[in-house]
Amino acid sequence: MKQFKLSVIPGDGVGKEIMPHALEVLDTVADIHGGLSFSKEFYPWSCEYYLEHGKMMADDGLEQLKNSDAVFLGAVGNPQLVEDHISLWGLLIKIRREFEQTLNIRHAKQIKGITPPITNANNFDIMVVRENSEGEYSEIGGRIHKGDDEVVVQNAVFTRKATERAIKYAFELAKKRNNKVTSATKSNGIVYSMPFWDEVYHSIAKKHPTIEANTAHIDALAAFFVTRPSEFDVVVASNLFGDILTDISAALMGSIGIAPAANLNVNGKYPSMFEPVHGSAPDIVGKNIANPIGQIWTGKMMLDQFGEHELADQLLAVVEKVTEEGIKTPDIGGRATTSEVTEAIIKKLRAL
Ligand code: NAI
Ligand code: MG
Repeated sequence: MKQFKLSVIPGDGVGKEIMPHALEVLDTVADIHGGLSFSKEFYPWSCEYYLEHGKMMADDGLEQLKNSDAVFLGAVGNPQLVEDHISLWGLLIKIRREFEQTLNIRHAKQIKGITPPITNANNFDIMVVRENSEGEYSEIGGRIHKGDDEVVVQNAVFTRKATERAIKYAFELAKKRNNKVTSATKSNGIVYSMPFWDEVYHSIAKKHPTIEANTAHIDALAAFFVTRPSEFDVVVASNLFGDILTDISAALMGSIGIAPAANLNVNGKYPSMFEPVHGSAPDIVGKNIANPIGQIWTGKMMLDQFGEHELADQLLAVVEKVTEEGIKTPDIGGRATTSEVTEAIIKKLRAL
């Protein structure tokens, strides 16, 4: 019997609503497998926790999470109670940084039964590998003088280690998919970091002669994501470029409520964290209409990380059957409740 130890942080708002649904689906998947189970430790860290304790997580919180196989997180944030920078930095970003989750992976594809917002978004299936620890999002820089003489410097930081790590991961991922990688660059405008990025990219591409390796400037690439998304497969990008591309790819699917994401630790020292792209959606909380697919698909990415690819693929196929049948929450044009969507997914899983 394989057992995976999950640290579960439902968080706030719809995060708390959809988490039980996703866990029920995962438990059903484990049942079907027969030789698999999930043990779960629940952590109440959230904005409510903050109001009571003055902090977003326990002082030894990271220590408590450290020995699990993965952190499974819902969504964090309740802007009416706690300012977003406090809730975000006190929990999510802390875990990502301290656990060295240096890659952010987001999958986006056209899901059957969901009308994409633009007609070109047909038949696309993109995995964006985003460098998640440095690049344009560095804290190096500063401001001097005031008024007309003010000077502001914001440095981007690119290390060989982190650049290689992201690009190598993309090529390994491409081998499991369609042997095609595209690198987001801007070496025509950013004259040090991006030529360096390209150099590393080409040297790694050379070692994978069977993989088609392309590069595209980020501005053009952003446009291509909209005009011909089906031409891309694995896309590797720096922190900022990846951030922008993944918002576009999520939008192409038709709702942020279905988009999944993984923050990967690749040195094996700490667990990875799996969380959907969406936030706590305060505007729809308590109505039982939050789309559970983002959290469920995120669970699918976790199964992939555990090496359970067949189960993972079956799960996503079942989700697509349900949307194809029109059992959908309002954000993707349906009238079903969160519970109805989950029930339909579980019923189909049991029938496999
Ligand atoms: P949001 O993602 O919570 O909501 C944006 C829009 O998408 C809203 O109209 C919402 O109703 C809809 N939506 C989101 N998830 C949905 C779902 N599962 N089903 C159906 N519709 C869904 O982003 P927003 O409003 O900017 O942020 C709300 C709070 O969430 C803030 O406190 C923010 O800081 C936090 N946040 C947390 C994230 C995380 O935990 N990773 C990510 C993004 C925002
Ligand atoms: Mg973003």
